[in-house]
Amino acid sequence: MTRKNKAVLSFILRPSLLTVVLFLQQTTSNCGYKIYKDGDVMIGGLLNIHYSETGDQCNRLSTIGLGNAEAMIYAIERINKNFTLLPNVTIGYDLRDYCRSQALAMQIAYDFMRDGDPVCMSNQDVSCTPNGYIANNRTKSITSLVGPFNSGSAALVGSLLQVSDIPAISPSATSDELSSQMYKDLFRTVPPDHWQAEVMADVIELFNWTYVATVGLDDSYGRNGISALEKESFDRKTFCIAFSEYIPRLGNGYKIKQTVLKIKRRSEVAVIIVWLSGGYGSAFFAEATAQNLEGKTWILSDALTAGEAVFLRTHFKILNGSLGVKPRDYPTPEFEKHLKMITPAKSIERGTDWWEEFWRLQFNCSALKSNDPGVAPCEANLTLHHAVQKIRGSYVSYLIDAVYATAHALDNIYRCSLTMHKRGMCPAVKPTVKGRDLEKYLRNISFDGLTGKVRFDKFGDPLTALYDIINFQLDSATGKTRNNIRVGSWNKNMTPKLKIDLSRLRWRTLYTPLSFCSSECLPGTRREFTSLCCWNCVKCPKGTVSTENGSTNCTKCDSETKSNKEQNKCEKLPIINITHTTAAGIAITLMALIGVILTLLVCGTYIKFYNTPIVKASNREISFLLLVGILSLHILAVLDLSEPSHSLCTAASFWRYFALNLCITVLFLKTMRITSVFEVDKVAQLFAPCYKTLTRQSVFLSVMNLASLCLLVLWIFLDSPRRKKIIRLDEYVFLVCKPFETNVGLVLFVSVCAYTLIVAFLCTYYAFKARGIPDNFNETKYIGFSMYILLLSSIVYYPVAFTTFESWYVTLVSCLTTLITSFGLLGCMFGHKIFILLFHPKKNTMESVRSQVTNFSFSNVTVSSVFPAQFNGGVPNASL
Ligand SMILES: *[C@@H]1O[C@H](CO)[C@@H](O)[C@H](O)[C@H]1NC(C)=O
Ligand SMILES: *[C@@H]1O[C@H](CO)[C@@H](O)[C@H](O)[C@H]1NC(C)=O
Ligand SMILES: *[C@@H]1O[C@H](CO)[C@@H](O)[C@H](O)[C@H]1NC(C)=O
Ligand SMILES: *[C@@H]1O[C@H](CO)[C@@H](O)[C@H](O)[C@H]1NC(C)=O
Ligand SMILES: *[C@@H]1O[C@H](CO)[C@@H](O)[C@H](O)[C@H]1NC(C)=O
Ligand SMILES: *[C@@H]1O[C@H](CO)[C@@H](O)[C@H](O)[C@H]1NC(C)=O
Ligand SMILES: *[C@@H]1O[C@H](CO)[C@@H](O)[C@H](O)[C@H]1NC(C)=O
Ligand SMILES: *[C@@H]1O[C@H](CO)[C@@H](O)[C@H](O)[C@H]1NC(C)=O
Ligand SMILES: *[C@@H]1O[C@H](CO)[C@@H](O)[C@H](O)[C@H]1NC(C)=O
Ligand SMILES: *[C@@H]1O[C@H](CO)[C@@H](O)[C@H](O)[C@H]1NC(C)=O
Repeated sequence: MTRKNKAVLSFILRPSLLTVVLFLQQTTSNCGYKIYKDGDVMIGGLLNIHYSETGDQCNRLSTIGLGNAEAMIYAIERINKNFTLLPNVTIGYDLRDYCRSQALAMQIAYDFMRDGDPVCMSNQDVSCTPNGYIANNRTKSITSLVGPFNSGSAALVGSLLQVSDIPAISPSATSDELSSQMYKDLFRTVPPDHWQAEVMADVIELFNWTYVATVGLDDSYGRNGISALEKESFDRKTFCIAFSEYIPRLGNGYKIKQTVLKIKRRSEVAVIIVWLSGGYGSAFFAEATAQNLEGKTWILSDALTAGEAVFLRTHFKILNGSLGVKPRDYPTPEFEKHLKMITPAKSIERGTDWWEEFWRLQFNCSALKSNDPGVAPCEANLTLHHAVQKIRGSYVSYLIDAVYATAHALDNIYRCSLTMHKRGMCPAVKPTVKGRDLEKYLRNISFDGLTGKVRFDKFGDPLTALYDIINFQLDSATGKTRNNIRVGSWNKNMTPKLKIDLSRLRWRTLYTPLSFCSSECLPGTRREFTSLCCWNCVKCPKGTVSTENGSTNCTKCDSETKSNKEQNKCEKLPIINITHTTAAGIAITLMALIGVILTLLVCGTYIKFYNTPIVKASNREISFLLLVGILSLHILAVLDLSEPSHSLCTAASFWRYFALNLCITVLFLKTMRITSVFEVDKVAQLFAPCYKTLTRQSVFLSVMNLASLCLLVLWIFLDSPRRKKIIRLDEYVFLVCKPFETNVGLVLFVSVCAYTLIVAFLCTYYAFKARGIPDNFNETKYIGFSMYILLLSSIVYYPVAFTTFESWYVTLVSCLTTLITSFGLLGCMFGHKIFILLFHPKKNTMESVRSQVTNFSFSNVTVSSVFPAQFNGGVPNASL
C-alpha cells in the first residue's frame, strides 16, 4: 500500500475506527476508492457508499449504498452473460463513491469527463493524488453514467454532463427541478416529485385534512418537492399549507430547533409533511423527540420512507402512526438470491474494502486475512442470509432498470452498426460508443424492466408513476417498528389513483387525526374567511338563515317565512286570519248556526200554518224565497270565516251579492206592491201591473235577479275575485279576497255593488214613504227597519273591507255585518208574524187581517174599491 493510498483512505474514512486497519489489495483498481472493471463499453456509477452524519466527513458506511453497488455489478454481469442482449460486447464499469457530497459528485463527474477527453488523456500518466479521484492511465472513458442518487447532486452533475454529452440515469433522484430541458442529458427511472406531491395531496384530501405544514430540506429535493405540493394546494384549493420551513444543509442545528418549536406552538396543525432526506430527517426527528413534540401525524417523502431502515431505525416514538410515501419497491427475487450467496471471501474479490467495512461493522469479523488482533477472521460459511434487508435498498429495481436501459440502448446501437453498415446511418462503436449517440438511443428505448415498461418522456422521466403508502407502526411491546406496512398505493394510470386500505391503517390514536385551521361553523352562522382555509363564524343577520354546517353565506328567507331564533331555519309566518277555532270564530259560527236554526224554524212554522190568513197574506212563495236568502246570508258568515282560497273567494263574493240581491229584490217587490196598491207614490204606481199576479211577480223577481246574476257571472268570468296574501315582513301573513285585478273587474264589481245599493236605496225610500200603511201588520215599517239595518251594516262593512285595513278584524266585521243583516231581516220580516202565529192565533183570521186594511181604508179615503179584486193571486181578498 502506498502512502498516497493511505492518505486518500484516511481522508475518506477519518475518524472511523477502520482507518487504522486497512490493507487494500489492489487488483482491478489501482486507485483507492472505486471498483473498476474493464470492458468494451464503460458505464460509470456515482454511488453513496458512505455518508456523513455531521455534514463534512465521509465516515459512515451505508449498507444500502453498498447494496446498490452490488446491484449495479450484478446487473452488468447479467447483461454480459446474456447472449441476446449485447452479444459479443462486454460492459465494463467504474463505480465511485461520492459520499452524498455534492462537491465530491462534481469532482468525480469532472474526472469522468476528463477521462473521456483524448487531449487530457494522451500525455498524462497520472496516478492517484492525495486529493482523491484524479484519473489514472488505466481508466477507460465512460459512455454513460448511472447516478447520482440524490437530487441535489443530480442537479449539479446533470448540468456538468451537458458539457461532455455523457448521459446519466439516476435511479432515485426525484426532484421536480430535473424535469426540464436544462437537464436534457439526465434520465431517471423513478417518477419525478410532482407525482409524489400529487400523492400527498390526494392523501391529505382523503383524510379531510385542510391545514398542514411542511418541513423541507433546503436543496433541490426539498425545495422543489414542497413547491410542487404548494402548487397542488393552490390548484385544488382543498387544503392549505400553514407554513413551510426549510432546513439548511450545513449548520442546521439552530434551524431545526426553531422549526420544531414552531411546529409545537402551532397546535392546530396536526399533519406535517416532511420532505427531508437521510441524516437530515434523522436529526430533525431526534430534535423533535428531544423537545417532546407529540400529537402530530407526519407524512414522510420518499427519501426518508425508503431509507427508514437506516435513518429512522433507532427512533422514533413520535413517528408511530405516521405515513410515508415512496415509489413502489418492485420485487427483485433474483438479486436477493444473489445477495444471499455472497460470502466474505467472495465479496473481497472485487478489490475494495467496502465489503470489509461491512463485515466488521455488522459481524465483527474480517474477511481479509489480516492479522489484526482486534478482529477475528470471518467464518467461511458466513452468508448475508439474514442481512439482506440491510443491504437491499428500496430503489434497487430502479437501479437495475437504469443499467438495463443503458444496455438496451447500447444493444440498439450495436445492432444498427451490424445490420446497416452504411455510413452516417448508425453511430460509431469504435473505439467506444459516444455518449452523445447513446443519449439519442436512450430516448427511444422501450423494454420490460423490473419496474414495468421502461420508457422516457422528453424530459427523460419515466412514463409510469406508481407509489406505495407506508404506515409506520410501532409495536408497543417491543418498541420496534413493524417493517414496511403497506396500506395503499397510488397509480398515475388508474382511477381512482389513490387506494388505501383503511383497515390496515393504524393511527397514533384510535381516530383519524384532524388538522384544520378553524372549526366548522354551525347552522345559523356563516364563514367569514380570513384566508382560504381559515375563517371566523359570524351569526347570520335577521331574516337570513344558514341551514348546514360550514355555510359560506346566509340565504334570505322568502317573503312568506322568517328566520327562527337560531337563524338556522326559515319558519312560515303566522296567518292571522280568524279561523273557526278561535274564540271569535266559534262565536260567529255559533251565531250563524243559531241563525240557520231560527230560519229553519220560521220555515217550519210557515209550513205548519201554511193556509192560515197571515201566512197567505204575506205572499207565501216570496216569503220562502226571502227565507232562502236569509239562510244564505247566515251561511255566508261561515264562509267568510274560512281561510280564503281562490275558489272560496270567488264563491263567497258570488254568494254574498247574490244572496243580498235576492233579499233586497224580494223586499223591493213587497214594498213596491204595497206602495202601488195604496197609491203612495206615483212612480211606483206606474209599475203596478208588474206585481198583479204571482206569475208577474216571479217574472219581476227573476228579471231583477237575472240582471245582478249577469253582472256577477261576467265579473267572475272576466276577473274573478282572488285570494291575496298580505305579508308583513317578519310578522305575519293575512289572507284576504281581492275582488278584482283589472279595470274590467273593477267596473263589474262597482256595477254589482251599485246595482245592489241602488235597489236597496229605492227599497228603503219606498218603504219609508209607505211606513204608515198597516198592510199585513205594518210590513213596510218592518221592511224599512230591515233596510236601515242592511244599509248601516254596509256603511260599516265597505270602508273596513276595501280600505287599507288589513287585519283580523276585517274578517270579523265582514262576518258580523253579514250576521246583523241576516238577523235583522229575519227578525223584522218574520219576528212579528211568527209571534202572532204562535202566541196570538186569534188574530190569525181573515177578519183581523182585513180589519187592518179597512181601518186604514176608512181613515184614508183614497183607497179605492178595486183593491180586493186587484190581489187575487190565488188568495182572493186576502193578499193584502
Ligand atoms: C437476455 O436479455 C433479454 C432481453 O432483455 C431477455 O429477454 C432474456 O431473458 C435475457 N436472457 C437471460 C438468460 O437472462
Ligand atoms: C460473436 O462472436 C462469435 C465468435 O467470434 C461469432 O461467431 C458470433 O457471430 C458473434 N455474434 C454476433 C452477434 O456478432
Ligand atoms: C500507465 O500505463 C503504462 C502503459 O500504458 C504503464 O506502463 C504504467 O505502469 C501505468 N501506470 C500505472 C500507475 O499503472
Ligand atoms: C371526509 O369527508 C367526507 C365528506 O365530508 C366523508 O364522507 C369522509 O368519510 C371523510 N373521510 C374521512 C377519512 O374521515
Ligand atoms: C469483536 O471481536 C473481538 C474479538 O474477536 C472482541 O474483542 C471485540 O470486543 C468485538 N467487538 C464488538 C463490538 O463486538
Ligand atoms: C458455520 O460453520 C460452523 C462450523 O464450521 C458452525 O458452527 C456454524 O454454525 C456455521 N454457521 C452457519 C451460519 O452455518
Ligand atoms: C426509435 O424506435 C423506432 C421503432 O421502435 C424506430 O423506428 C426509430 O428509428 C428509432 N429512432 C431512433 C433515433 O433510434
Ligand atoms: C403505536 O400506536 C398504536 C396505536 O395505533 C399503539 O397501540 C401502540 O402502543 C403505539 N406504540 C407505541 C410504542 O407507543
Ligand atoms: C353539524 O355539526 C355538529 C357537530 O359538529 C353535528 O352534531 C351536526 O349533526 C351537524 N349538522 C349538520 C346539519 O351536518
Ligand atoms: C351562497 O352560496 C351558494 C353556494 O355555497 C352560492 O351558490 C350562492 O351564489 C351564494 N350566494 C351569495 C349571495 O353569495
